[in-house]
Amino acid sequence: STVPMIDPFGRTIDYLRVSVTDRCDFRCTYCMAEDMTFLPKKDLLSLEELDRLCTAFVEKGVRKLRLTGGEPLVRKNIMHLVRELSRHLKSGALEELTLTTNGSQLARFADELADCGVRRLNVSLDTLDPDKFRAITRWGHFGKVMEGLEAAERAGLKVKINAVALKGFNDGEIPEMLRWAHGRGMDMTVIETMPMGEIDADRTDQYLPLSLLRARLENEFTLTDIPFKTGGPARYVEIAETGGRLGFITPMTHNFCESCNRVRLTCTGTLYMCLGQEDAADLRQPLRASEGNELLHAAIDAAIGRKPKGHDFVIDRRTNRPSVSRHMSVTGG
Ligand code: GTP
Ligand code: 5AD
Ligand code: SF4
Repeated sequence: STVPMIDPFGRTIDYLRVSVTDRCDFRCTYCMAEDMTFLPKKDLLSLEELDRLCTAFVEKGVRKLRLTGGEPLVRKNIMHLVRELSRHLKSGALEELTLTTNGSQLARFADELADCGVRRLNVSLDTLDPDKFRAITRWGHFGKVMEGLEAAERAGLKVKINAVALKGFNDGEIPEMLRWAHGRGMDMTVIETMPMGEIDADRTDQYLPLSLLRARLENEFTLTDIPFKTGGPARYVEIAETGGRLGFITPMTHNFCESCNRVRLTCTGTLYMCLGQEDAADLRQPLRASEGNELLHAAIDAAIGRKPKGHDFVIDRRTNRPSVSRHMSVTGG
């Protein structure tokens, strides 16, 4: 009975990303400023409200749901929401329920996530060097993330490692990370840094176009383009020497907006139709205005009806101003 959500450019929207908190236990230098102002806790939607919103989207044809943050696993009682949402996996309405996490809390939660029907996780990890890890995350503990990855493996969760490619920081280390990830049966993606929100560092110093990284990897490895897709924007290659997959996410150099299938919900009930645009729709008001979902469905339809064509991120040394003023942690990527 569900009518698929189709945007003005003919794209079917069947993927919802939900930032369940804007907070994080790390402060990655490309993501946040050291001194961040987070939302007051009273502004957050309750887990029940987030469940209602997600459910309204599932009713509207969303087949894939990803919880993000900030760090999703630092939201209080988050497993309650995961458990509730897993009913949509059981009913067959949802194909995939998954998370993007920094891994710091995985040792605690991996078993329960697997028990709720989560099959796959994306874990953000930019270096294998504990000192560099401390430097990039400002106060993250590398050992906790390694324990988390081991717990995920034991729980049978498939992990993809996400690394933001940072010039002069981890670009030389990507071959080692690839061997490490592929040796453990994990896929990996590398990501171009996007100018979202004020940070302390200069993004022009950090930015590395992935065509350069790819050319360097080709000196050492045999890369073959493959049609493999996970529903995200990565374009994958297979690496003959390791037998694993590497994805390239290139918002800066090779825009993938024509195949966009997603929208993003924040922990205050704001819907962003595009990661790289400021336009947003408030869903909290229709959510709270009535107990039924009709107002919500209408508000979602209206929002999808104005999904923009795409993003136009620019990293400009002259102004060094972010293209989008909010941080990645508001929408979770
Ligand atoms: P799967 O393909 O399902 O594994 O997930 P994904 O790659 O879509 O999600 P993940 O949370 O791992 O995101 C990886 C990176 O891709 C993050 O840095 C996101 O910000 C970025 N990304 C995901 N979707 C978009 C998008 O629509 N536009 C842009 N510009 N970047 C995106
Ligand atoms: N540009 C690109 N990726 C970013 N991430 C956080 N901030 C940025 C940014 N400005 C990444 C995280 C995580 C994913 C959700 O987004 O490292 O892997
Ligand atoms: Fe936290 Fe992820 Fe941002 Fe790092 S990149 S500060 S782990 S939300």
